[in-house]
Amino acid sequence: MDSIIVRGGGALRGEIPIAGAKNACLALMPATLLSDEPLTLTNVPRLADIATMTQLLQSLGAEVQSLADGQVLAMSSHDARNHVAEYDIVRKMRASNLVLGPLLARHGKAVVSLPGGCAIGARPMDLHIHGLQAMGAEIELRDGYLHAVARNGLKGAEIELRFPSVGATENVLMAATLARGTTVIRNAAREPEISDLATCLRAMGARIEGDGTGTIIIEGVERLHGATHPVIVDRIELGTYMLAPAIAGGEVELTGGRRELLPAFCEKLEEAGIEIEETADGLKVSRPNGRVRSVDVETAPFPGFPTDLQAQMMALMCTAEGVSVLHETIFENRFMHAPELMRMGAQIEVRGGTATVTGVERLKGAPVMATDLRASVSLILAGLAAEGETVVNRVYHLDRGYEHVVRKFRGIGADIERVSN
Ligand code: EPZ
Repeated sequence: MDSIIVRGGGALRGEIPIAGAKNACLALMPATLLSDEPLTLTNVPRLADIATMTQLLQSLGAEVQSLADGQVLAMSSHDARNHVAEYDIVRKMRASNLVLGPLLARHGKAVVSLPGGCAIGARPMDLHIHGLQAMGAEIELRDGYLHAVARNGLKGAEIELRFPSVGATENVLMAATLARGTTVIRNAAREPEISDLATCLRAMGARIEGDGTGTIIIEGVERLHGATHPVIVDRIELGTYMLAPAIAGGEVELTGGRRELLPAFCEKLEEAGIEIEETADGLKVSRPNGRVRSVDVETAPFPGFPTDLQAQMMALMCTAEGVSVLHETIFENRFMHAPELMRMGAQIEVRGGTATVTGVERLKGAPVMATDLRASVSLILAGLAAEGETVVNRVYHLDRGYEHVVRKFRGIGADIERVSN
């Protein structure tokens, strides 16, 4: 297993290009199942999760060609006949469940393994199931698999989501594009990745409006045609790298970054004393001299503070001046980075969904363990300004969601390397 070694050092300077969004791409790829014409995605990030989704689509009979050093995916499900998503692939990545809606819409049936829990929570699928059942699907759980059938095809329905689930919104949205009649999704997720998916589906001939608001209206059509679509920039990667100069000092430009992708996060960074400047190419982030100020954070669905940036923000708060209270409202177990940060000298008290961080002057490098994708990068961020050497183990988590992470941090002057054990 590989480890990443970070040696705390001085201020960071330079530029980081932000890649295409993992979480947009993982919803865009299953959309190929909705049409028998080719769907091509550009600005695709080179990530392990993309490779896993590629493997899953190929197991369903779709053709997926990775071109231009992985930045283009040329897909066709013209001959895709298999409707069974096997456990051994789905268990590796929860987003595999996003083939459920498209398979039902295209084939009228789907057998998709339940993904099972993951480090950050149980991750149930009740909202996906209720939404698709409202559209006429019969879905039952048998031996760990969801067996779904839409005997007379899917029909439009009025669906109110108990919680604005990103995945449930995406599954229902994709299924509704080929349903008979109109579907209205109320309390829909509003994340930019939803709008990116809707944009791609419209390019394929779908009739969708309201994406990005809490109410999405879809008029089903007979069939969808092919399209070429650029994946939206990754706002979570953006926020992650914005925190590098915030933690270590200096000034870094994130090319491709846009403030409207992270409204609440940018407000919190500025409240902490970080400067964010919109430039022609992206966002320039700098930290004036002296320590940042502690701020309180509560995660929420978009446009609130993203849960996927909570661990990274905690790394900043560890050396802020004062006390910061971070309240994680989306997942039930998303503080696994806290004990690792405490090994570096952070003062954190976790009670249920709330972590209270009392800032210290400086952290001390230590061997730490990555537990999930976003926790792993928060440990690297903490190591950037820590005294001495931090060794982050089990970095395979990182490869799932961060493209060329060592190269990008090195590009702004960080003392970081990857070693194989
Ligand atoms: C997406 O997961 C993202 N993944 C997650 O990013 C992200 O943290 C999450 O949205 C929230 O923004 C992808 O897009 C591939 P949800 P998703 O359905 O769709 C509960 C990362 O690090 N829930 O919005 O699975 C669920 O348990 C990953 O890139 C139900 O109760 O998230 C959770 O508590 C991690 N029933 C909450 O809703 C359901 O049927 C949010 O889940 C579905 C969800």
